[in-house]
Amino acid sequence: MSYTEDMAKLEALLFVAGDPIAIDDIGTLLEISRDEALGMLEQLKRRYQRDPLSGIVLREIEGAATLATNPGLSNTIEAYYGKIREQKLTDAAYETLAVVAYNAPATRAEIETVRGVNSDSVVARLIERGLVREVGTLETPGRPALLDVTEQFLLDFGLQSTRDLPPVDLMMYDTLTKFTQQTTKESQGVAPKPLVIAIDGPSGAGKSTVARLLSEHLGILCLDTGAMYRALGYKALQQGLEPSDPEAIRAMLAETTMEIDLSDRVQRTLIDGTDAAPYIRTPEASRAASDISVLPVCRDYCVRIQRELGKRQALILEGRDIGTYVFPDAPVKFFVTASPEVRAQRRLKDLEKAGTHTTLEEVLKEIEERDRQDSGRELAPTKQADDAILIDTSDMNATSVVDAMISAIRDNEREQPAWRSYGGGCV
Ligand code: DC
Repeated sequence: MSYTEDMAKLEALLFVAGDPIAIDDIGTLLEISRDEALGMLEQLKRRYQRDPLSGIVLREIEGAATLATNPGLSNTIEAYYGKIREQKLTDAAYETLAVVAYNAPATRAEIETVRGVNSDSVVARLIERGLVREVGTLETPGRPALLDVTEQFLLDFGLQSTRDLPPVDLMMYDTLTKFTQQTTKESQGVAPKPLVIAIDGPSGAGKSTVARLLSEHLGILCLDTGAMYRALGYKALQQGLEPSDPEAIRAMLAETTMEIDLSDRVQRTLIDGTDAAPYIRTPEASRAASDISVLPVCRDYCVRIQRELGKRQALILEGRDIGTYVFPDAPVKFFVTASPEVRAQRRLKDLEKAGTHTTLEEVLKEIEERDRQDSGRELAPTKQADDAILIDTSDMNATSVVDAMISAIRDNEREQPAWRSYGGGCV
């Protein structure tokens, strides 16, 4: 068989296959050596690259080769496949794909630990779309399935292999769980505790913004605990109750259901099934939140939910008492603050954006009153934990605060022998 004929056959094979063909299989089919197959693939690749009239490119993926359309033509291709492509992947799907790619082969339980939410339905949809597949089972009780990304995923994302993925902090299951795991417990088969990062501080210090950015960077969900007190304070106001009346609030809480939905990364704080978000950022709701949060019955109600959530998944919690009361054992704690004037300026901006008109003096007065109440109360006041890292954000933007947090997390990781040796079994 001549070289010219082999080249034509190679192109025909790749064309009809659609999916990538293993290079060894190409060698067998054309009755040539692996090196000869690789040489011909290189030739074909160059031919497509040189030809400005070609809409085809040759891609090599993990020991296999395939034909694909030139990425520059994606608009035309997308127009043709309009209907399929219109079904864009959701954020949850992208995130799950990333978790699978970084941890492959990964079980559904590992994916859930990293994402912090049950991901079974997202995984099922990704399997249907041919982006994830089962590659085996783990030899443990229940024999959970092991999942990996498919060649289609590599193609769609322009990767030759998942090894080409850039490193992303804490996207990996092992890294995530090692923070809090003691090797002794590990050797006894105790399930690892998910990582908790506590961010406490007074209002307007920038906690929410940095918690959100840190959450995006680390790929860990984030819980705004203030929203829970705000939602309860708002409900009390709606019912004409005095938020600081312990008996009235006790009765109200007995009739209240609160659910926290973090599945889409945007927190939904559902009070009796309704998302409270649109109503809880007013000055009245802020006052009501501060008043109601003084009551032990209200704190018990919220802290129970917060601890449950932190037990199930890695979580960044922002609030006032996370490092001192809710999770005193959290391995990473920050206390974020700023001068009252700077905090008032920030809060004023937020209120104006939300269409609430007030003055800087009013806001400053309200902030100082709330500070007094939040840090003066008996149970779980706003307080820096002894082992928390203090960050004064008065002259810092959010990005530099997050950078400081990440380097503190890294330093901590280096300094803590228990963290470093987890998995190595040498403590
Ligand atoms: O963080 P924020 O401004 O949304 O909080 C509203 C109020 O809720 C705040 O004045 C005090 C209270 N709170 C609390 O007592 N404990 C928390 N962990 C979070 C908030």
